[in-house]
Amino acid sequence: MIKTIYFEENTVMLLDQSQLPEKLAYERCSSSLQVAEAINKLKVRGAPLIGVTAAFGLAMGVNNYSGSAAGLDEYFRETKKLLASTRPTAVNLFWALERMDKIYQANRHEEPDRIAQVLLDEAEKMYEEDIQINRAIGEYGQEVVDLGSNVMTICNAGALATCGYGTALGVIRSAAGRGKLKRVWACETRPVLQGARLTVWELLQDHIPVSLITDSMAGYTMKLGQIDVVIVGADRIAANGDVANKIGTFSLAVLANYNSIPFYVAAPLSTVDLSIETGALIPIEERHQDEVRQISGNYLTVPEVEVFNPAFDVTPHDLISGIITERGIIRPSYVDGLKQVKTNTRG
Ligand code: MRU
Repeated sequence: MIKTIYFEENTVMLLDQSQLPEKLAYERCSSSLQVAEAINKLKVRGAPLIGVTAAFGLAMGVNNYSGSAAGLDEYFRETKKLLASTRPTAVNLFWALERMDKIYQANRHEEPDRIAQVLLDEAEKMYEEDIQINRAIGEYGQEVVDLGSNVMTICNAGALATCGYGTALGVIRSAAGRGKLKRVWACETRPVLQGARLTVWELLQDHIPVSLITDSMAGYTMKLGQIDVVIVGADRIAANGDVANKIGTFSLAVLANYNSIPFYVAAPLSTVDLSIETGALIPIEERHQDEVRQISGNYLTVPEVEVFNPAFDVTPHDLISGIITERGIIRPSYVDGLKQVKTNTRG
C-alpha cells in the first residue's frame, strides 16, 4: 500500500499529490510552516489526511522547539493556529488539532522531549486508526453495492485522501474484493482534477476497472442506465445530514435523484460536525481564480476573466440515501442517527 504520509528523522514526508500521476515524489517537510504550505497548496489533500497531516505537523513543531519551557504554551498555540488556517471546510483538520491539544494540555508539565514524544505517538495512533476506520467503512458500505454494479464517484476519496484504503473508494475496494463491482465511473472533478489525476491512478494501481468522464457527462451517463449507485466522500457533515464535499457533488446528487439512483456518502465520524446545525453554516473554501483559468500553467481562457472558484458545495440531506460510517450506515432522518453514533464515539 502506498504511504501518503510518514514521519522519519524529524521530518514529515508527504506524497506530493500535486505531481500525480506524472511523478511519484515525496515532499520533505522539516517545519510546521512547510506542512501548512503543503496542505494549503493541495500537495496533501482529502479531509482525513489533512487532519492527520496537521497532527504530525504540530507534533514535529514541538519536537523541533528549542526555546524556553515557559514559551512552549505560546509556541504550541501559534503553531496550532497556523495549521488551522490552511483550509476552512474539512472539519477533520480542526478535529485532529483539538485532539492533539487535549494531549498537549494533559502533558504540558512534562519535559519538552517527553511532550513531543506523546504528541508524535498520538499522531501515529490517528494514522493507524484512520486505516482501521476506512476498512470498517468499506465493510459496512459494500452492502449498498449489488452484484455487477457500476459505481459513480467524484473527486478522490481514496487511499490518497486518507492514511490508506479510502472512504468512498474503500467501499468500492471492499465491493471489488467480493467480486460485486463491475466498473467505477470517475468524474474528472474540475478544476483541480482529483478524479482524473488521482482516483483513476489509484484504481488502476489496484486493477479496478474505471472509466473517466468529464463532470458534465454525469447526467447523460446516468440516463443511459450505466450507473447503479453513486458513492462520494465528505469534508464536513452538519448535524442535520447536509454534506459539504468537492464542488460538483451537489449536481451529482440532483442528477442521481432525478434518475432514481441511490446516492451515498462515505465518511468517518470525525467528519461529522454536530456543532453546525445545517449545511448553510459550513464555511466553503474559495480558491485562487487561476485554478479555473489555467490547466498545467497554461491559460485556457482570457487571462483577466473574473472567476468564481468555490472548492466545495453542500448537498442537502434529503438527496442522500445513507451516510456510511465506521459504525454502520445511518439512514434518514439523520438528526437522531448522527447524534447517537457520534456521541457514543470518541471525538
Ligand atoms: O480539495 P480536496 O482534494 O481536499 O477535496 C477532497 C474531497 O472533497 C474529498 O471528497 C473529501 O475530502 C473526502 S476524502 C476521504
